[in-house]
Amino acid sequence: MRGRSRPVVAIDGPAGAGKSTVARAVADALGFVFVDTGALYRGLALAASERGVDWEDGPALAKLAGELDLSFGPEGHLRIDGDDRDDEIRTPEMAQGASKVSAHPEVRAALLGVQRALGADGGAVLEGRDIGTVVFPDAEVKVFLTAAPDERARRRQRDLAERGVEADFQDLLASIRERDERDVHRAVAPLRPAEDAWVLDSTGRSLEEVVERVVARVRSVGQGPENSGRAT
Ligand code: DC
Repeated sequence: MRGRSRPVVAIDGPAGAGKSTVARAVADALGFVFVDTGALYRGLALAASERGVDWEDGPALAKLAGELDLSFGPEGHLRIDGDDRDDEIRTPEMAQGASKVSAHPEVRAALLGVQRALGADGGAVLEGRDIGTVVFPDAEVKVFLTAAPDERARRRQRDLAERGVEADFQDLLASIRERDERDVHRAVAPLRPAEDAWVLDSTGRSLEEVVERVVARVRSVGQGPENSGRAT
């Protein structure tokens, strides 16, 4: 397994496809670590806003990324220089900031090493946009998780309602379509399935079913080199 004793599982896909929930559940089921790579971009956006670094200034952001100690606590919370900052990065403002800082090639290069280090020993599920294409092109299992835009909008509406926030369905759908457009067309590491990714459409499937299918795929890869986990 490419020098690793356990597989690396890459889960990529558009916003709202259920990547975090699925990746976390798969990691739990297999006893693997779960790495939310979006949290690193969010953490950089937060640190930049605190230090007066402009989200549009790629070179300054990359320099800052090199100076920060970005890590994850045992509960999976993002730590910046040792402090748990997870709550502060989970805001719409930092989602916006992460989307802006992640568009700079210098930033993506600066955060590559941290991401690779987190999965280097295997036994890891990494969730993001470019894990199977850029961060771990040699991942043993690559899943591109997607769902129809209206289902993603419906799920987002339900998640927000659970947190007491009322949101208009058409507004959510428009914002998902807008984000897809930006992510797919950006010049650096655009959102697209790796050639050897398994494209899994979660529309109409339960979380349990999706998790079971991914776990089964990882287990089958773990059984031997003859099963490479390539798309079927
Ligand atoms: O998954 P998330 O919402 O936490 O991601 C926040 C932003 O970071 C999102 O706009 C896309 C970007 N991102 C990225 O470009 N590459 C990744 N591997 C993860 C996230």
